[in-house]
Amino acid sequence: MEKKELLYEGKGKRLFKTDDENLLVSEFKDDLTAFNAQKRGNEEGKGALNCKISTQLFHLLEKTGIKTHLVKTLDDSSQLIKKVQIIPLEVVVRNIATGSLTKRLGIEDGKKLPFALVEFYYKDDDLNDPLVNDEHCLMMDLVKSETDLEELKRLGREINSTLKGFFEKRGLNLVDFKVEFGIDKEGNILLADEISPDSCRFWDAETNEKLDKDRFRQGLGDVKVAYEEILRRILEK
Ligand code: TMP
Ligand code: ASP
Repeated sequence: MEKKELLYEGKGKRLFKTDDENLLVSEFKDDLTAFNAQKRGNEEGKGALNCKISTQLFHLLEKTGIKTHLVKTLDDSSQLIKKVQIIPLEVVVRNIATGSLTKRLGIEDGKKLPFALVEFYYKDDDLNDPLVNDEHCLMMDLVKSETDLEELKRLGREINSTLKGFFEKRGLNLVDFKVEFGIDKEGNILLADEISPDSCRFWDAETNEKLDKDRFRQGLGDVKVAYEEILRRILEK
């Protein structure tokens, strides 16, 4: 497999073409951005940590039957992935209220939600990734059908129940996370993008210490040490 020209550069990753039109190389960057990239930073080694964390979590989810775009890891910070058409929705699943949910609805920060809440955000930087409901998604053709919307919700909940249990055993509360999905050339919905402390919130179960990108968003101190701690706990037996 030969890595070819840059196809797309996002905030957290670069995608390169390969000599196989159905496969891409995804390279995890050290850049950190928040608040629609108004806050920027760089943390050497962050990309490699996220690549390792995301690879482990995708493998875990594959074992439970979730189909993903991951083919294999290539090196510390890159993966070979299947090319998919990204569905322009951020699927957010929440177990504990914080972040934009508490701001929007005035819910007390840290409140345990009565059930896993699934939300859709329209991926559009110019619009600041607005929250959308099912009818917005259908009206704007962001998904093909109501069945696909239901499938995204089902996948979000299933990913949540696997990851929540996995992290509970490791002394971490999975507060919320964001996932993205894509459609492959056979029309399958695959889990795509990444699952990492850039796209999840992890609170230490004992101390409630934040061990995710909120450290960067809120200036809470060393980001890399926290990400290393997440990887260490994932690799714990
Ligand atoms: P929020 O509380 O800011 O809406 O974030 C909910 C979850 O989604 C949190 O785990 C962070 C993640 N997220 C992203 O990965 N990318 C984004 O652009 C946003 C807004 C949230
Ligand atoms: N708006 C999000 C944030 O505040 C964007 C991101 O997660 O990169 O961090």
